[in-house]
Amino acid sequence: MEVVIVPDAKAGGELVARTLAQLLARKPDTLLGVATGSTPLPVYRALAELVRSGEADVSRARICQLDEYVGLPAGHPESYRSVVLREVVAPLGLSPEAFIGPDGTAEDLPAACEAYDRALAEAGGVDLQLLGIGTDGHIGFNEPCSSLASRTRIKTLTERTRADNARFFGGDVAQVPHHVITQGIGTILDARHVVLLATGEGKAEAVAQAVEGPVAAVCPASALQLHPHATVVVDEAAASRLKLAGYFRQTYAAKPHWQGL
Ligand code: GLP
Repeated sequence: MEVVIVPDAKAGGELVARTLAQLLARKPDTLLGVATGSTPLPVYRALAELVRSGEADVSRARICQLDEYVGLPAGHPESYRSVVLREVVAPLGLSPEAFIGPDGTAEDLPAACEAYDRALAEAGGVDLQLLGIGTDGHIGFNEPCSSLASRTRIKTLTERTRADNARFFGGDVAQVPHHVITQGIGTILDARHVVLLATGEGKAEAVAQAVEGPVAAVCPASALQLHPHATVVVDEAAASRLKLAGYFRQTYAAKPHWQGL
């Protein structure tokens, strides 16, 4: 996998947004897989800026969701559907019809999971999947020891993830659902290009395990080592435990501009 070390979160957001603009120019009806959490927000802001300045055209773009809480009422402001509508779909001026996601309010959740995997395939597959990383190495909501071949399904959150996400629920961990629907690791690996973003010292250990550790279910993000086109964009703090940081810097500095990410 390619590791790109950027000075800060803003630079990472601009780099990934420019990559998305290039992809949209090649494939206007790109299916873009988006992640929630704070890390990808600079990407969405930078992409909206490129749209405003006429450097990116999202008029035919489609958006799909990575994961969802189970049990939050429809329209809850912290359901990931609401977050993606607020942070991505609306700022880009897209219609909600251009957006697909799993139904965390379904009565038959296993059927909703299967239906979502089918919907992704019928949409032609994800062109570029953005990912953040949990402090425990999770991608989407695939917690440690998730099957590396898993498909979209129900998962139970670790207490660590619920505590990490309590900040979105007024700091009250009791409000964070225990269960979620998440694209499986196998589903994520079906995307044509996977871009994982990580910023801040708190992610440094998870990034080091994902990039330089063994491929192991205990660190779900390490599965990206199996993907033929995986890019990891990290700021200096998140890169601070990478033993090969010097090599990654040297490789990227010498990369021909036309290659993109
Ligand atoms: C949640 C999401 C993940 C995200 C992670 C990290 O658990 N399900 O997709 O990567 O949070 O969030 P943040 O970027 O806010 O650290």
